Amino acid sequence: MCGIVGAVAERSITAVLVEGLKRLEYRGYDSAGVALLDDQGVLQRRRRVGKVSELETALSSEPLPGRLGIAHTRWATHGAPSERNAHPHFSGSDLAVVHNGIIENHEQLREQLKGLGYVFSSDTDTEVIVHLLDHKLKSQPDLTAALKEAVKELHGAYGLAVISAKQPDRLLAARSGSPLVIGLGLGENFLASDQLALRQVTDRFMYLEEGDIAEIRRDSVQVWAADGQPVVRETVQYHEGAEAADKGAYRHFMLKEIHEQPKVVQRTLEGRLGSDHVLVQAFGPLAAELFAKVRNVQIVACGTSYHAGMVARYWLEELAGIPCQVEVASEFRYRKVVVQPDTLFVSISQSGETADTLAALRNGKELGYLASLAICNVGISSLVRESDLCLLTLAGPEIGVASTKAFTTQLVALMLLTLSLGQVRGTLDKALEAELVDELRRLPTRLGEALAMDSVVDKISELFAEKHHSLFLGRGAQYPVAMEGALKLKEISYIHAEAYPAGELKHGPLALVDSDMPVVTVAPNNELLEKLKSNLQEVRARGGELIVFADEQAGMRNGEGTHVVNMPHIHDALAPILYTIPLQLLSYYVAVLKGTDVDQPRNLAKSVTVE
Ligand code: G6P
Repeated sequence: MCGIVGAVAERSITAVLVEGLKRLEYRGYDSAGVALLDDQGVLQRRRRVGKVSELETALSSEPLPGRLGIAHTRWATHGAPSERNAHPHFSGSDLAVVHNGIIENHEQLREQLKGLGYVFSSDTDTEVIVHLLDHKLKSQPDLTAALKEAVKELHGAYGLAVISAKQPDRLLAARSGSPLVIGLGLGENFLASDQLALRQVTDRFMYLEEGDIAEIRRDSVQVWAADGQPVVRETVQYHEGAEAADKGAYRHFMLKEIHEQPKVVQRTLEGRLGSDHVLVQAFGPLAAELFAKVRNVQIVACGTSYHAGMVARYWLEELAGIPCQVEVASEFRYRKVVVQPDTLFVSISQSGETADTLAALRNGKELGYLASLAICNVGISSLVRESDLCLLTLAGPEIGVASTKAFTTQLVALMLLTLSLGQVRGTLDKALEAELVDELRRLPTRLGEALAMDSVVDKISELFAEKHHSLFLGRGAQYPVAMEGALKLKEISYIHAEAYPAGELKHGPLALVDSDMPVVTVAPNNELLEKLKSNLQEVRARGGELIVFADEQAGMRNGEGTHVVNMPHIHDALAPILYTIPLQLLSYYVAVLKGTDVDQPRNLAKSVTVE
């Protein structure tokens, strides 16, 4: 996590750095800092605990102009969020570094450097990098050459930006396990951990690859690959989505992103549906041949993406007849896994940079899976680059830490995968495929109808104003939807929420049910409806208050302690996508009621690039 911005220009770049940090704040926001070379050639630093706005205030009361600089917004891993632990870190008064990732051998390096006389002023792993570099500069005075030497001794993950008052012509970058992108300007160049930070200044980007080191000057960029050889990385022009970093008329990014779902689901479907079938080539030219061999699917992901995988398991087994396992990446990566023959390894990730998911993919590649497929929202991410096949979710940048549009587009992509596998393997009835393709085409309209219930859900949210716990119930593929609903509520409103398959209620959680424990349920009109209704009776009999999102044809009525919100009718297979919407809205309005920081909830980060 954390965010990096850097710039080398002829004009003062302080405002560019601060704006870049604001755009990256969704990645980490417990402290922020900037180091700039002032007009006297002195390296100056400002750091503040808290959000980037604190730093911005400090910079407006004590301005710090400069034409070479680096900046950072932090999500603490080593050392508490405090000013002394905030980046940039210095060695002496001439050398500054910002860092994303974790240096695993930092303790050993710290001891060695202390032995060499270096005094540490923070508890971070980052500070070893800057002192190590300073040490290398003693025998190798060229900054770029010294950085090449220093990174050889770092174990772990890093994206680094480095500046020195002694070599003010350059900004250096090094990437290993943590993404970095160079933004190309005219007579000025930039660096960031995500291009989103730089779209204010350029639309031309050069993505660094694993092991790359870059020397960025005002009018040139030179890159060396992991083997030390000079390389030319492709320049990519970015056209679309520049509006994404703007909330528009919405109060929060999360609400904006919830309301974008019809549009981005439509975009994720575009060009991927034939008249009555899914276009398997959407997964790449090799897909049809590979899919024909698939006999099992292993899905790995984290957080919300894991919930998408859990829904897909119901779909893959029921619609395509393919056995499927789903596991959280942090468990999968350290477990001895027995791989069934002809298993497709599927990773799901919004960012494509989640450390556990990436590590699971890398392990998976050693284990003899048939092939790897990434379902991902970022086309230039490590996950996509390292997978054999990919299907991009076209949700556009997601800024709110709580994932919304990324989840529903992942579900759409996973439905396309299910239908493709069923089609190629001949296990899916053709008429059913045609019916579902038709339903998928109608899905954006259905989502729009669900979003129109915004104010109804807002009203329901008042039931949670004084509550500290809640239960979410679902059956079948709606169980992971209930899990996602509970995750959303706890992430942004800090209300404890647990999800259960409704049939498990009587095996434990019923003991908790009383009038202080709202129970939220999703009830599409399927063959499990009658069973679900009995489960709800069990709750009512204990005085539990029910909030039920139910199909308009399910015949569920409001009653004492029972609040029914009617949902548009939808094909049962697509119900998990539709029923996600009211649960997102519910958590959003509860959080607004509670006055929490909706887009940047405490202790969390958008993209978890550390273990
Ligand atoms: C973090 C985010 C979650 C996200 C998870 C996985 O925990 O706060 O919203 O679901 O990471 O992220 P990914 O980018 O791999 O989907």
